Parts: sequence; C-alpha cells; structure tokens
Amino acid sequence: MHDSNHVAVLDFGSQYTQLIVRRVRELGFFAKLYAIEDFPSIGMPGAIILSGGPKSTSEADAPDIDFEALKAFNVPVLGVCYGMQLLNIKFGGSVEASNRREYGPASLFPTECSGLYAGISQTSQVWMSHSDTVKILPDGAKVIASNQHGTPVSLQWNELFYGIQFHPEVTHSHEGNQILKNFLDLANGLLPFKIEDFKREMIQSIRDIVGDRQVVCGVSGGVDSTVLAVLLKEAGVKTRAIFVDNGLLRKNEASEVQANFKRMGVEIETVDASERFLTALAGEGDPEKKRKIIGNMFIEVFWDAVGDAEMLAQGTLYPDVIESASNAKSKASVIKTHHNRVAKILELQAQGKVLEPLAELFKDEVRALGRSLGIENEILQRHPFPGPGLSVRCPGIVDKERLDIIRECDAIFIGKLKEYGWYDKVWQAYAGLIPVRTVGVKGDERSYEWATNLRAVVSEDAMTADWVELPAQLLRETSHRILNEVKGINRVLYDISTKPPASIEWE
Ligand code: XMP
Repeated sequence: MHDSNHVAVLDFGSQYTQLIVRRVRELGFFAKLYAIEDFPSIGMPGAIILSGGPKSTSEADAPDIDFEALKAFNVPVLGVCYGMQLLNIKFGGSVEASNRREYGPASLFPTECSGLYAGISQTSQVWMSHSDTVKILPDGAKVIASNQHGTPVSLQWNELFYGIQFHPEVTHSHEGNQILKNFLDLANGLLPFKIEDFKREMIQSIRDIVGDRQVVCGVSGGVDSTVLAVLLKEAGVKTRAIFVDNGLLRKNEASEVQANFKRMGVEIETVDASERFLTALAGEGDPEKKRKIIGNMFIEVFWDAVGDAEMLAQGTLYPDVIESASNAKSKASVIKTHHNRVAKILELQAQGKVLEPLAELFKDEVRALGRSLGIENEILQRHPFPGPGLSVRCPGIVDKERLDIIRECDAIFIGKLKEYGWYDKVWQAYAGLIPVRTVGVKGDERSYEWATNLRAVVSEDAMTADWVELPAQLLRETSHRILNEVKGINRVLYDISTKPPASIEWE
C-alpha cells in the first residue's frame, strides 16, 4: 500500500527517525520508513528524507547509499544530520570526523528567507546531536544556514538536494515543523495522509485478503485491539473476538469490556481463566518469574480457545514493526512484540494467515481511526494498562485478597480523577499495594494493615514520566474514602518518583 507519491524516510539508525515519519504525517502527508538495506526498493516516492544515524561517515562500516539511484528518483531530497554529511561526500565534498559531541540547543541563522527557510525567524533554536561536521563544500553547494559560531549547518547542493545538520523532528527545534513543511512544499503531488482514506483502503484490503475465511482476534478492551475488532466488523468479515479474563483486571473491567463491545455491536467470547492464572502464580514473588508465568499462561489459554485458526488478526502498530527503532521502544511494545511473534504466530505468518491492518499506524493515528469508526472517546482515551495487569502493581506474591484490595483502592482513585476532570489530563494513573503492615488506629482499635500507593504520571511514550501535581483536595478525598471503605488498608501514599530512575509500575 502507498508506495507512490509518499515521503520515503530512509533509516540510517537515528533514535529520532520514527519522529520524522510522525511529523510528516502530522503535516498531512503519507510517510513511510525504509531500512537503508532496502534502498532503492522504495516505490515511487514524491520526496525522500535521509535520517540521522549513530555512525561517522569515516567508519568502514558506515551505512552508504546508491547515489546514482537516489538521483534517478528526481525528487526533492533532504539529508538530516548523518544524511547531510553523506550527501556532502557524495557531491564531492568532505566531512571532518570528531570525537567531540555537540548535543543540545543551538541557534540557527538562515542566510536566505525562501525555500527551506521561508517564513523562518532570523534566529531560531534548533536541536543538535552530532560529532562530525561538513568541511569542504563541493562546487556549486550553497550554505543556506549557519549556527551562532558561523559554522554551516544547512546546505543546498542543487535544485533538489538539501541538507540540515540539526534535527527538525524534535520539539526542541522550535521551527522544525515549518522547515520540514517548506521542504515538502518543494515536492509535487504528495499523497495526503487522511485517516478516512486509510480506513476505506484498509476495509477493502481486509475484505480482499480474508475472503470468506474466519478471522480470530484477541481483545483486551485497550485501544488497539478494540479498533481492530471494530474494523473487522466494519469490513463485514467472519470474526471471533476472544477476551481472556486473567483475574488480574481492574474492578468491573471484564463486565465493562463486555458491555462496551455489545454497544459497538461486536460479539466477544470471554474466557474466564482467573483460576488458572492465580493458581499458576500462587506463592511466586519474583517480578520476572511472575511476568513469565502470566505471559506463557496467556498464550496457552488463548490458543486453547482459538483451536485451529483460519486467520489471526493482531493489533500490531507501526512502532512495533520498525525494528531499527527497537532501542527507543517502550517495555510495553517490546513485550507486545514478543506476544505477537510467538512460534505459533510465526507459523501462521509463514502461511500468510496473519492480518495486521494497523501495522502502518502510530498510536495517535489509531485513536483517530477509532474516532472515525465511531468508537466512544471514553474507550479511546483509556489509560494504558499492562498485559500482566494488577500483578505488576502488587509487589511480591499475588492472591485474590491482595488483588481485591487493589481493585477497590484503584476504583476510588480513578473515580475521583474522573470526577475532578483529571483522568484525561494524566497519561496513566492507578492505585497499587504496598504489602507492608504498619500500625494505625481505626475507631477505638489499633490496626495493623497494609498501605496503598497512588500513582499518576504524564508521559509521551512511557520511556520517561513525571508525577502529576494533583489537587490536594482530590488526594484528600481519595485518601479519606480509601481509609474508610477499603478493609486492609490504613495508609495512603502518593508516589512522587520520576521515571527514570523509578518506573511507572512497581514491578
Ligand atoms: P514501566 O513500569 O516500565 O512501564 O515504566 C511503562 C509502560 O509499560 C506498561 N508496562 C507493561 N505493559 N506488559 C505490558 O503490556 C508488561 O509487562 C508491562 N510492564 C509495564 C506500563 O503500564 C506503562 O504504561
């Protein structure tokens, strides 16, 4: 799909490459990422962007590009960071290797106010992350912007080839989006990125691929699998949607998920496997062992329920399939990738029986698709919830008593966040258990009970997170209700740890 008039982003390994794709899509054009090994098989793009990368062009194994093939596309090309250095060499110039890294903000002084720098301020902040710099410019090359030291940071080699040393894709480059937009304006007839068009194409392609076979998919109530199931319903293909209740869900979650799907007209099969999960977990206190038990049990239960599948659909997203970006992936997507690539699935994949319709989309685009499918905002804006569920919020051993306590505390806290209009402002929030007994007084009696920890964070990608300054009154009312209503808890703590060094979950 979409291999003409798109923006091809060639990946030289920078941690920011995915962001370039996102920014281009945010600007309204369809962009796709290609491993540099796949060049020149990139369809017929309308513009090409060469990303940055961790290597120095002087290293023996530095990634290279077939320059003749690149020129033959005859479309605008933008080299970013490593991409610019490589292009400078290809045009006959040179690059000076350096061990000193320039990392952080710099000032940009465009030398002209048209083309790439149309509408850009006379001085503007950009973000640098590099060691090497261009040295000798080839004949005909023009410096189109410099930094505060007068060093060239942007070049134009000819009508179609441009280079920038800084990273326009990160938000610290204040006018980065405009610079990218100016570059895209140089291209003709770029494919617009509209989620509605995407939806239509996806539905048609699902129908073509599936035919009258039956598709099985797992649903969790989360955004990706919900959008997937509704998309399959819209496509009108025969579908079995399976929901595994692992006993580690939040209060009333199973019944809410069932009710949500019912409202959306999607029939789901619930497999109540809570006993199996809790029995397998009994007595185990080690976080990694707990995760493994849950992961393996999920696979067992799910495939028991599926039996022989004619086709399997999964809610794999674009970041999950971009392997070169694996170092920038969240734990969640690594684990999800792991689940989505177990032996059984690889076997089905080899037979062409795995359908991943969301594999070209980013998370926010999946939400937009969900909205255009008529899925309620409340479902689309749900906080992320880890696959191993409340187990990672229950340090040490997990049993029904502890889980029930967490469920009660969590429901009160989340209820208060919603009541105060804070639920949509935080990225993720929950209550967990600290299984340490401390002394207190309840009524006239001494109590000796556990504590609950409340956590509310903001984050963009789960790689980093900051705790949220919730209103004191919200916390006060939450604490009051928990202490009065939840048996087994006599202390409420608010977690004010950033990630790093802490993590979002406790295990
Ligand atoms: P941490 O605790 O690593 O969490 O800061 C980052 C994000 O990932 C989620 N998370 C998981 N998701 N399986 C998942 O599917 C897991 O094992 C897992 N561990 C953490 C967590 O909820 C947060 O959104």
